[in-house]
Amino acid sequence: MKKLVYTLLGLAGLASLITACSAGGDNPGIEYAPNMYHSFAYEPLSQLAEEPNTINPHGMNMREPVKGTIARGQLDYANYNVVKSNDNYEAASAWKNPLPKSAYNLAEGERLYNINCTPCHAEDGKGEGTIVKDGKYPRVPAYSDRLPTINAGKAFYSITHGKNLMGAYGTVLSPTQRWQVIHYIYELSGAAPVQAETTTN
Ligand code: HEC
Repeated sequence: MKKLVYTLLGLAGLASLITACSAGGDNPGIEYAPNMYHSFAYEPLSQLAEEPNTINPHGMNMREPVKGTIARGQLDYANYNVVKSNDNYEAASAWKNPLPKSAYNLAEGERLYNINCTPCHAEDGKGEGTIVKDGKYPRVPAYSDRLPTINAGKAFYSITHGKNLMGAYGTVLSPTQRWQVIHYIYELSGAAPVQAETTTN
């Protein structure tokens, strides 16, 4: 009996040796503990389709943030979080520039304006930017004509959501950067800074 057990153990040992030898390259050989080969990767906001999380919605490992959750440090995004609509454009008139018109904010506004806006609006704000000069783009209004007809809040809204042929910059510039640019374009155009002055928010 003892002999038989030893023989069987020996055979098993041999078998594992042989199968282990067949491993190589991408082939792990026989998998005795598959979980060690196929780790259950945790993706925070998604999960592998074949291994969904069975407790949370959408098979995700992380719970979705509660509706209306604001990321740390982004409280100022929430203040201006409105969908694009004519009503909201009108309502944006009430938004006032919370930043002081300091040398720093004007310099930052100028820097961001020159990067993002000059191809159309031009460095002098008169709307003859390079792509307009090339004749590839229809005329862009001069700030000195347009800004007096709107106000800082509407300018903020249009920069955020875009307007007709102008693209949206809400994902490009933070709210603070948008207000800095607004200080700068009012300064540039010489237009009276309607509601662009410092206010407490
Ligand atoms: C691709 C060209 C283009 C770029 C780039 C562009 N604009 Fe404009 N912008 C326009 C056009 C065209 C209009 C006129 C839109 C209309 O009223 O039909 C306009 C209008 C505006 C207005 C007036 C909005 C209103 O409510 O009447 C503001 C303010 C403005 N742009 C600011 C900016 C700022 C700031 C940037 C850079 C962050 C920028 N634009 C980048 C083309 C552009």
